[in-house]
Amino acid sequence: MKIMVIGGSPTAESRTRGIAQYAAEVLREMNVEVLFFDVGNDILPLFTGDESTAQNEVVKKLSAYAEEADGFFVTSPEYHSGISGALKNALDFLGGKHFRNKPSAIAVAAGGGKGGVNALTNLRTVLRGVYSLVLPDQYVADPVAFDEGNVLVDELAQTRVKELATQLKDLTELVSKK
Ligand SMILES: Cc1cc2nc3c(=O)[nH]c(=O)nc-3n(C[C@H](O)[C@H](O)[C@H](O)COP(=O)(O)O)c2cc1C
Repeated sequence: MKIMVIGGSPTAESRTRGIAQYAAEVLREMNVEVLFFDVGNDILPLFTGDESTAQNEVVKKLSAYAEEADGFFVTSPEYHSGISGALKNALDFLGGKHFRNKPSAIAVAAGGGKGGVNALTNLRTVLRGVYSLVLPDQYVADPVAFDEGNVLVDELAQTRVKELATQLKDLTELVSKK
């Protein structure tokens, strides 16, 4: 089974990446093959609809990983009550061809307080738009869940990401029969 983990933050120092890296680690421990794509390291051009962008090496990597994947673990920061523009740009290169009938787990890094739910709802809506089967469970990590290097160190946060990864693996197994 292959799961594509998407880091959805464009920043160099990213808490979202901390969630994505932890999810990837946990999935690998469950013997899942991880296809890791991070919009902050895998720099995509702006989606314009121009067919020439299909030849871009990073666009090719994104499409190949998404096509190969049986399921997705998608992460984003909450920016202005939504997902990052960089993640939305990446998802605009993809569509139902890549996501239809494939499960997704979603998790967000937010600023604390009551932040994060709007980005989760936004991400859920976008993934519904590409016909992914988004798990009902979801997770927001506040800044306190990370150490100074943006590693997800909080025990409860780790448990919640593990739970999401387990649910994702189980549903992907059911749906893809792998
Ligand atoms: C442009 C911008 C907008 C933000 N908007 C929100 C917001 O609406 N709600 C929130 O809880 N946090 C907001 N934050 C805080 C980020 O969600 C938080 O710092 C998060 O950890 C950033 O993730 P990253 O380090 O992976 O980019 C915002 C941060 C930035 C830079």
